[in-house]
Amino acid sequence: MIIPDGYSDIPAGKIAAVVTHLEMTAPPARRGDPPGAWSLRKVDAPALHWYRDLHRRVGEEWLWFSRARMNDEELAAIIHAPGVEAYALVVDGRDEGLLELDFREAGQCELVYFGVTAGLIGTGAARFLMNRALEIAWPRDVRRVWVHTCTFDHPSAVAFYQRSGFRPFRRQIEVADDPRLDGTAPRDVARHVPIIE
Ligand SMILES: CC(C)(COP(=O)(O)OP(=O)(O)OC[C@H]1O[C@@H](n2cnc3c(N)ncnc32)[C@H](O)[C@@H]1OP(=O)(O)O)[C@@H](O)C(=O)NCCC(=O)NCCS
Repeated sequence: MIIPDGYSDIPAGKIAAVVTHLEMTAPPARRGDPPGAWSLRKVDAPALHWYRDLHRRVGEEWLWFSRARMNDEELAAIIHAPGVEAYALVVDGRDEGLLELDFREAGQCELVYFGVTAGLIGTGAARFLMNRALEIAWPRDVRRVWVHTCTFDHPSAVAFYQRSGFRPFRRQIEVADDPRLDGTAPRDVARHVPIIE
């Protein structure tokens, strides 16, 4: 379906975002690590409760709802699949950032989830995490690393990814049931996307 020019109504109870896809096809110039006592931990075969907790703490404010809607079987089928890798950004012994890489498509790496918890935004922790992500991805047999972000995400995300070396190449509209209306997320999160019932 082609979305017509002009304004298009979104039904009450639904949310809509503009999605930007970005890619890089060669390793980018390295950016420096900001100062900070962070480390990265690979989490093999993540426990579902651990994954759900970190994904929620990083993403709930940004309406990351698709994983939250999955039952345990559906979630395990993705995060335990060969080629899918989960990493935690560790601060003071706590997991406060999530990096999920998907190498399942030959020659490609998708940054499926990338983010830090609220208290770490703007502290340099995300740059540390991106530097580690690119160090993991590019030495593998990949020709392309890509990511997508949307207007529910933190407003710095598109510029952050572009500074990281990603080039925008595709734009989409995503429409979904509002996760705050079916119990997937609390009603009071993501006030930058007001609920319309
Ligand atoms: C969107 C997001 C990734 C953007 O990151 P951010 O918090 O602005 O990023 P950082 O603070 O780590 O880094 C931003 C810049 O400030 C610099 N910086 C921050 N603190 C610094 C410090 N104390 N000293 C020196 N430099 C510092 C970083 O080096 C970086 O510079 P660069 O981009 O020129 O290399 C992050 O806010 C986030 O995870 N948000 C929540 C989840 C989300 O929306 N994820 C994206 C969806 S796909």
